[in-house]
Amino acid sequence: MKRLIAEREKARLGGGQKRIDAQHAKGKLTARERLDMLLDEGSFEEYDMFVTHRTTDFELDSERYLSDGVITGHGTIDGRTVYVFSQDFTVLGGSLSETNALKICKIMDQAMKVGAPLIGINDSGGARIQEGVRSLAGYATIFQRNIMASGVIPQISAIFGPCAGGAVYSPALTDFVVMADKTSCMFVTGPKVVKTVTGETISDEDLGGASMHSTKSGVTHFVGADEKESILLIRKLLSYLPQNNLEEPPLVVCEDPPDRLDDNLNSIIPEKPSIPYDVKDIIHSVADNGEFLEIQPQYARNIVIGFVTFNGISTGIVANQPNYLAGCLDINASKKAARFVRFCDAFNIPIVTLVDVPGFLPGSAQEFDGIITNGAKLIFAYGEATVPKITVILRKAYGGAYCVMSSKQLRGDVNYAWPSAEIAVMGPNGAIEVLFNRELKALGSNEERKKFIAENAEDYREKFSNPYEAARYGYIDDIIEPRNTRFRIIRALQTLSTKKDVNPPKKHCTLPL
Ligand code: HXC
Repeated sequence: MKRLIAEREKARLGGGQKRIDAQHAKGKLTARERLDMLLDEGSFEEYDMFVTHRTTDFELDSERYLSDGVITGHGTIDGRTVYVFSQDFTVLGGSLSETNALKICKIMDQAMKVGAPLIGINDSGGARIQEGVRSLAGYATIFQRNIMASGVIPQISAIFGPCAGGAVYSPALTDFVVMADKTSCMFVTGPKVVKTVTGETISDEDLGGASMHSTKSGVTHFVGADEKESILLIRKLLSYLPQNNLEEPPLVVCEDPPDRLDDNLNSIIPEKPSIPYDVKDIIHSVADNGEFLEIQPQYARNIVIGFVTFNGISTGIVANQPNYLAGCLDINASKKAARFVRFCDAFNIPIVTLVDVPGFLPGSAQEFDGIITNGAKLIFAYGEATVPKITVILRKAYGGAYCVMSSKQLRGDVNYAWPSAEIAVMGPNGAIEVLFNRELKALGSNEERKKFIAENAEDYREKFSNPYEAARYGYIDDIIEPRNTRFRIIRALQTLSTKKDVNPPKKHCTLPL
């Protein structure tokens, strides 16, 4: 017994008090402190506390620490089981050894059998250099498990320190990445290699900090101001997710009346179609208690994605954002929304799509970078999804973007439009220029042309820039009063809760990646 207590005490000290102090001095918590914060009190059951590495090269036999630099096991979050690993930077920089990888794989395998989410906390110098290829093989075995678990159990990665080299690919294979601001970084090649190969001088933070990944690369989905905030984000995120792909998300008790109306919505769309507004005001208005967990809020801001509940039903929201790039679809927005739609579909989370999109972003930059292939990802994701899909066209649904945004023809289950909806091949001005090309050429001055366009645009708007034409064809199921939107969405979600739809059997799709 005495020995057990002593051994446990030794393991809990990781790489020793000096290194723990160094970790704290950097504004970082230790691997165990992070788990204490993440999991319900007293729920952590640790595995493999007494594992040590087997290497003798580079005098590593004199540096053997119990747990070998990663703490693994399971616990609960809000009473639901999760499997966790937490890399311990105080032990050889949290570097990944052969035994370290075995520990991680053990809990990944069990998470799959039990059907519980996996959360990995990353804080590591990467492959344990002294172990060479055995460490690299350890990474690959983890990657393989990440891939097999994808779409079966939710996988979440927290980045609370360095995550460099091939090590970045395990988090990248998971569903959500959460980074702590200023104390974490992710890159395939660090600043030193960059300097050597390209001559560029760049800091860790600029190359792979949370700020860069949340705005430019889109690698991270959430940024916490510190580790505590990041951990709270993970706990919140899990509250919207089922334990696995065979279960439904938890139904939460809702005290917000499902039939709550919001008169403000009747006048939220500006009179002039070119004036922007914030679609998040609409999301907050219709969601339970106005709560919205936004994902990637700083990346591809022309599309908004995240989780809400509707009368307690966990739901994914996809919404064009007129406040940014007029809500155009571009490459990043298409990829951001497509990935989210696929996640929701994999985990039985219905999708509500709020549409106000003037089309795809025009320009050579978008064409050169492949807006065709990337835009196709979003069409594919919506068309493939079999979860309940509810669409509300708020204002513009022009051209190809009409088709993309969960249209009836992409198996939208319930498609509503507000009276302000404009459903057309293109906006009035563009349409007049194409339809009356010859007449416009014949006109002498710019003034005359403008007048001609304005006059004809009115006719065009009357005919096409409204929801009635689409409703006549049954492409829109109903035109609804904006203030009723919350109630109509909830009723549709409740009706569709028993929906069944299947795709034809296949090995897998050939999604345009
Ligand atoms: C073994 C490592 C290590 C590693 C750090 N340490 N990285 N030991 N293998 N990969 C050890 C250090 O020797 C040191 O030991 C302790 O961890 C803390 O490291 P410091 O350098 O003192 O800390 P810090 O100044 O905070 O710098 C952290 C760091 C730096 C930026 C992570 O250590 C570093 O650059 N490490 C190497 C990163 C790297 O290139 N890794 C390989 C990437 S390629 P002591 O005893 O002094 O405490 C890769 C391939 C994966 O990972 C392939 C997958 C397919």
